Amino acid sequence: MPSIQWNSRYATGIPAIDAQHKNLVEVIHKLQHALETGHPHAETMEIMQFLLRYVDEHFTLEEAYMEHIGFPGLPQHRKLHEQLRIQVNALHDRLAHDEPGSAMELSLLLFHWLTDHILHDDNSYVSHAQERKKLQL
Ligand SMILES: [Fe+2]
Repeated sequence: MPSIQWNSRYATGIPAIDAQHKNLVEVIHKLQHALETGHPHAETMEIMQFLLRYVDEHFTLEEAYMEHIGFPGLPQHRKLHEQLRIQVNALHDRLAHDEPGSAMELSLLLFHWLTDHILHDDNSYVSHAQERKKLQL
């Protein structure tokens, strides 16, 4: 898996959301580092504790924003968030039992979250917000 860096392609232009997405990039870094150095259980569990909080705070913020801008894709986006939440919770259980391969799977999940969800799914509400702004000018 390539090393992840914050890239302007990930930016939504919404400061609070970008700040949280940057936190996700940081945590992916930490996890990659943990994996490279033999991923001590305590470190990956700490990352997981962060993610459980992150999922709650971040999805709540994004969904409130989508509601605020009247994004018609909100119900579908909520479902995507719910799927990510289920995947994170399932991996939490597997990591808690120190199941082989679970830390690597978490790393892959987060990588796809960044490259599929943020670049593709989140981008659709950003486009909607931009269109809406244009119409108001
Ligand atoms: Fe999202």
